[in-house]
Amino acid sequence: MSDKATLTYKGKTYELPVVIGTENEIGIDISNLRSASGLITLDDSYSNTGSCLSAITYIDGEAGVLRYRGYPIEQLAERSTFVETAYLLIFGELPSAQALREFRNLLSTHEFIHEDMRHNFEGFPPNAHPMAILSAMINAMGCYQPALLQPEDDNNFADAAARLMSKVRTIAAAAYKKSIGQPMIYPRPELQYVPNFLHMMFSMPNRPYEPVREVVDALRQILILHADHEQNCSTSTVRMVGSSQANLYASVASGVCALWGPLHGGANQAVIQMLLQIQASGEPVETFIAKVKDKSSKIRLMGFGHRVYKNYDPRARIIKESCDKLLAKLGISDPLLDIALKLEEVALKDEYFVSRKLYPNVDFYSGIIMRAIGIPLPMFPVMFAIGRMPGWIAHWREQHLRPDARIHRPRQIYIGPAKRDYVPLDQRS
Ligand code: ACO
Repeated sequence: MSDKATLTYKGKTYELPVVIGTENEIGIDISNLRSASGLITLDDSYSNTGSCLSAITYIDGEAGVLRYRGYPIEQLAERSTFVETAYLLIFGELPSAQALREFRNLLSTHEFIHEDMRHNFEGFPPNAHPMAILSAMINAMGCYQPALLQPEDDNNFADAAARLMSKVRTIAAAAYKKSIGQPMIYPRPELQYVPNFLHMMFSMPNRPYEPVREVVDALRQILILHADHEQNCSTSTVRMVGSSQANLYASVASGVCALWGPLHGGANQAVIQMLLQIQASGEPVETFIAKVKDKSSKIRLMGFGHRVYKNYDPRARIIKESCDKLLAKLGISDPLLDIALKLEEVALKDEYFVSRKLYPNVDFYSGIIMRAIGIPLPMFPVMFAIGRMPGWIAHWREQHLRPDARIHRPRQIYIGPAKRDYVPLDQRS
């Protein structure tokens, strides 16, 4: 196979190098196209643009494959812990027993937020969305950690990564407690990552919360499944902000904002809102699907479709199974699950969805699990953010380890007015 592509424009031919990835993904390297030809490429919303080389996560959207550092998501979801998976993503290899112990110790060491930061919570109105609080508090964390990180020093970076992962969990739970007017619950260092979070969310000073094993397991799986997804909107945002040499906290705080929207991490919340609306209206699922297909309605089937997956999202498959198991264990019969199952059944047989290759994505069933655990709706995207934290950290580090890293600065094709002269105010019509 040729390792060059050629582009011909106005009789001139330009040779462009071809880059081939581990799994034979092929990209045409156009980084020198403009200097050679004066041309740029135009790819509105980046569907065809590879923004970097990355060794973290592999997705084959046509086949429905997802791997972290080469390991299939199915194996990690079944056998790994969230902390181990985080280590894998950030440092590239599964940890040894000792490295894992040390990383866990760092997570415990850093689980408290600075006592002064507790006062920051008082500045937010009671109905503030927890994603706004999370983003603001992560940025504020940077004020307490002004020292420069050394991404090339594993020990230094493990400390920074653990600090962020651990405190984010404390901040998220504290934001929830604030929103319902309950006292903030301090973390317990003897608890592992997921039970510790559940403790801070649901314990009261006079009533400890003891989660059942299946709840811990379902949440562990959700966090692992959300831990990375290569160059999605929020991760690209983290890399974009990080490319200006902004610090890890500022970069990740902007990732939280990007994740918030309903087309991305806010979709899990939007799915439940959609299911509640269908339930309240009492309309048949088929009627709702008909509205979705009518473009003038502007209604989307939330939790369906994906920019990369043109097949069943492998994460959705695992989450659907986990959802069945958890509800059975807790003895919950959630009518929203019945609506979701029916929506999926109808959509997957419908020409509109089949021809556009629209399948359930990770958000379609995750909200039903979170509802069963007792996590309130506005916290759903926050759970996504806690899960995505290792991915964002890994990408920030990967980017900063590149000796040839440059600021991200796309170009555009200008379509505004051509040059014109300024008109004084009294002469304008
Ligand atoms: N419901 C109905 N129609 C849809 C849906 C949907 N959920 N998703 C895509 N389509 C249609 C579009 O209208 C379009 O139709 P057309 O070709 O007739 O114009 C076609 O499918 C292609 O859709 P695009 O919007 O071009 O796909 P894109 O890759 O830009 O968007 C996205 C992907 C944002 C995920 C989209 O599928 C969507 O809005 N889904 C619902 C929101 C959602 O679940 N987001 C979570 C994504 S996963 C994540 O972030 C973790």
